[in-house]
Amino acid sequence: MDDISQIKHVASPLARQTLLDGNLTRPVAGGRPIALLPWVQVIKIGGRSIMDRGHEAILPLVDELRTLLPEHRLLILTGAGVRARHLYSVGLDLGLPVGSLAPLAASEAGQNGHILAYLLAPEGVSYVEHSTIASQLAIHLSAARAVVGSAFPPYHHHEFPTSRLPLHRADTGAFLVADALGAAGLTIVEDVDGVYTADPNGPDGKKAQLLRETSAAELAKHKGTLPFDPALLEVMANAQHIARVQVVNGLVRGRLTAALRGQHVGSIIHTGARPA
Ligand SMILES: Nc1ncnc2c1ncn2[C@@H]1O[C@H](COP(=O)(O)OP(=O)(O)OP(=O)(O)O)[C@@H](O)[C@H]1O
Ligand SMILES: [Mg+2]
Repeated sequence: MDDISQIKHVASPLARQTLLDGNLTRPVAGGRPIALLPWVQVIKIGGRSIMDRGHEAILPLVDELRTLLPEHRLLILTGAGVRARHLYSVGLDLGLPVGSLAPLAASEAGQNGHILAYLLAPEGVSYVEHSTIASQLAIHLSAARAVVGSAFPPYHHHEFPTSRLPLHRADTGAFLVADALGAAGLTIVEDVDGVYTADPNGPDGKKAQLLRETSAAELAKHKGTLPFDPALLEVMANAQHIARVQVVNGLVRGRLTAALRGQHVGSIIHTGARPA
């Protein structure tokens, strides 16, 4: 009888409390999580800005990635590009819920990842699915210098229904995984030099100025468009590990390499992560 009553009394500092009261959970849950893969560099390659441009943009970048492999271990994540835009328009026309559109767009991002992985296959690089990124990344990156995956988060019908388009897209997905892994860094590869005060390819493009250094908090006040998902700013504000993200131009040879070597070659965006 004694044994049974002991089983019911699990000794845990959270056992008797509501998880809703931050004051009660903070002593246990307020610490910084450990960095799981502190040596991995995460790179998000734009779907529309790079992959959709075909060989002129992709082949030089693949070459640059190849030369980076001896220096870094990489998780390369690809965005969805124009096929996802088409898919959204067909899906929205049919009235599909946002949670049905999210995995379809994620699979388009995955197709771009497959393309990139084929090109890097001679270097031992392959495409891995979300489930592998979640639980077997360490073994894959011990066997190869890099792997490629879809940058989208793996939301299905759990995607937040606050918008008809998935809120959490490739940039948000890349940041979430980089921060959760405690990665060495996240670099976002675009077709522009960084984040500007306005779209450099838009009607006010001539007046647009490059923001060499800014913060997620500053950008949250920004009125116009940005070259990444707006939801990225929210996850940056709550970052645990990744203190800064650099946005670089992947059409200019050497920018990605310089960024991974710690040089300031694009826009650096500071997040809300506390210094270690
Ligand atoms: N404030 C801004 N600063 C820089 N670029 C901007 C800004 N606002 C809009 N843009 C535009 O964003 C474009 C990049 O588009 P976008 O971010 O959708 O591509 P992408 O990252 O390849 O997308 P995905 O990976 O989701 O397919 C740039 O070419 C630029 O014209
Ligand atoms: Mg972008």
